[in-house]
Amino acid sequence: MSAVTPVGLRFDHVSHGYDIGGALLPVLEDVSLDIAPGEFVALLGPSGCGKSTLLRLAAGLELPRAGEALAGGVPITGPGPERILVFQEATLFPWRTVRRNVEAGPEARGELAAKQARVDEALRLVGLEAFGAAFPHQLSGGMAQRAAIARALVNDPRLLLLDEPLGKLDSLTRLNLQKDLIRLWQDRGFTALLVTHDVEEALLLADRVVLFSPRPARIIEELRVDRPHPRRRDDPVLIALRTRLLASLGVLEDV
Ligand SMILES: Nc1ncnc2c1ncn2[C@@H]1O[C@H](COP(=O)(O)OP(=O)(O)OP(=O)(O)O)[C@@H](O)[C@H]1O
Ligand SMILES: [Mg+2]
Repeated sequence: MSAVTPVGLRFDHVSHGYDIGGALLPVLEDVSLDIAPGEFVALLGPSGCGKSTLLRLAAGLELPRAGEALAGGVPITGPGPERILVFQEATLFPWRTVRRNVEAGPEARGELAAKQARVDEALRLVGLEAFGAAFPHQLSGGMAQRAAIARALVNDPRLLLLDEPLGKLDSLTRLNLQKDLIRLWQDRGFTALLVTHDVEEALLLADRVVLFSPRPARIIEELRVDRPHPRRRDDPVLIALRTRLLASLGVLEDV
């Protein structure tokens, strides 16, 4: 697979909310954020503040109640194959093999026959080339997440939206998949927007970390992580940034 042309993303004074039993639940409040093509941005914030909602707006699964979400300078009006969301809950089709799961996007676009080599390559990129015939229930949690990532990659996303893709994994698997994600991002060149609740993960992966308030989510802090990859978690710069982020999140720690 050749590298893609990444697409930038812009939230321009975006507010959003949901109708719950006739009352409006405010979820995002005046969020303005500019993400450059090829940038890797991590979103951090308390549970329920609106992070997944922001990704759904970027994916075009929801339209904002106020303000505008734009990809490549064009208002987002619906889903598109160049913007792919990997959901917080693994969403493989249980009745399809891993390969058939990865084939879902090309098949929906009528490109299945033409994209067989891409399917092979996506499986190889995530290290699942030997598991194409396996069904989801035959995979470990980490393998299922990698299959979900392969299913996204096969569509050559220019923007990859990752909603806590490593959230439920054990710490060793998580460390390996963090390295895989950086490798894929460097190889493929897409723009990445990652929701995580793990401060260290945000600092290890992202060019920039954006911190949100409790719901309705407002941006309370943005910081740049100007360190080359591969990063080390004992890097003093990262440790200083971590202390700052934890303080902003209101989490006291004994240093
Ligand atoms: N489809 C929906 N209909 C109604 N309310 C919703 C819907 N989706 C989310 N919400 C509400 O919006 C708020 C924000 O949800 P969201 O999933 O964006 O939070 P989050 O920051 O991703 O949380 P978490 O870290 O727990 O995943 C929550 O209060 C939730 O109840
Ligand atoms: Mg969420």
